[in-house]
Amino acid sequence: MNSFTILGTGSSVPPHRVTNDDLAQMVDTSDEWISTRTGIRERRVLTTQTLTDLAVEASRRALEQAQVSPKELDLIICTTLRGDYLTPAEGCVIQEELGASCPAFDLNAACSGFVYALDVAAGYYARGAVKKVLIVSMEAMSQMLDWTDRSTCVLFGDGAGAVVLGEGDDLLAIALTAKGNREALSIPHIHGHSPFLEKKEAAPIRLSMQGQEVYKFAVSSICRGVKKAMAQAGLTPEKVDHVLFHQANMRIIEAAQKRLGIPDDRYHNNIDQYGNTSSASVVILLDEVNRAGLLKRGETLVLCAFGGGLTTGTAVMRWSR
Ligand code: UT7
Repeated sequence: MNSFTILGTGSSVPPHRVTNDDLAQMVDTSDEWISTRTGIRERRVLTTQTLTDLAVEASRRALEQAQVSPKELDLIICTTLRGDYLTPAEGCVIQEELGASCPAFDLNAACSGFVYALDVAAGYYARGAVKKVLIVSMEAMSQMLDWTDRSTCVLFGDGAGAVVLGEGDDLLAIALTAKGNREALSIPHIHGHSPFLEKKEAAPIRLSMQGQEVYKFAVSSICRGVKKAMAQAGLTPEKVDHVLFHQANMRIIEAAQKRLGIPDDRYHNNIDQYGNTSSASVVILLDEVNRAGLLKRGETLVLCAFGGGLTTGTAVMRWSR
């Protein structure tokens, strides 16, 4: 496949940590419940910085590692549930902050956004339209939660992650799905102040989720997506060197791990530190694993995400840095 290679990665999370014990002061929960049911110990939340600040910092780090200047970028794809603005698109805000001059837009596929963006980027490379692409995934989950709802507010965190892509052939397989479902997971949007609206009360911008429904969907769709992408790439489970799953719940990851037959030592996780950062989760993890020097040239990676939509995305990649 004529696609791309990853030249650099970057990430940024807010400095403010909220521990499970902190949350136990706010809602009826405990460190024991949260850590055993999810694997989360703390998460980062925005206090003074904006989401754009995080995204720009993550992007600069990725560009620096890739040794690519913003002016060299041919495209910026930003993934987010909700940027700091409805318009301009966050991609454009980041383009301005970086001093880039390429086309830029946003993509919303909820937690699967980063993998969806890899697929979109692959299309641009396939038709020879780009040489250098920035994908930046950013999420301010703390600003969309109901902080009185213990069943959701303990799960999420804020953060941003980025990759810079160059020409190559490291995307070995990619599989996306969407199954429209507003019941399982949704965050209603603003309605504005239109005088023509009959119902004046706008729904609050707060996440609601049927946890167990999403849980079952997640385990089955990860298994299906990873098996399909491994088959497309001609990979057996033993040949997978690194697995980076969406960091939503450690029990989801472990349930999929048991079914997939990929050796346990190939899995990387950081959910204990950041919780679920939606579309930023896989790319923050990728940056951590990369910067820890754990990825060797020629190794294979499986990236897999799932979430609102309901969407899923799985990519099999080779590492060539
Ligand atoms: O990226 C988006 C994707 N989202 C996800 O992946 C979420 C998928 N779902 C999950 O991760 C899990 O379903 C949750 C972590 C959300 C919930 O875990 P669960 O094991 O499915 O718990 P449950 O919903 O069955 O609730 C069990 C009990 C309930 O109490 P009762 O009815 O048994 O008395 C809940 O009220 O746990 C209670 N509970 C809590 N207790 C203490 C729910 N949240 C909490 C809490 N602290 N934070």
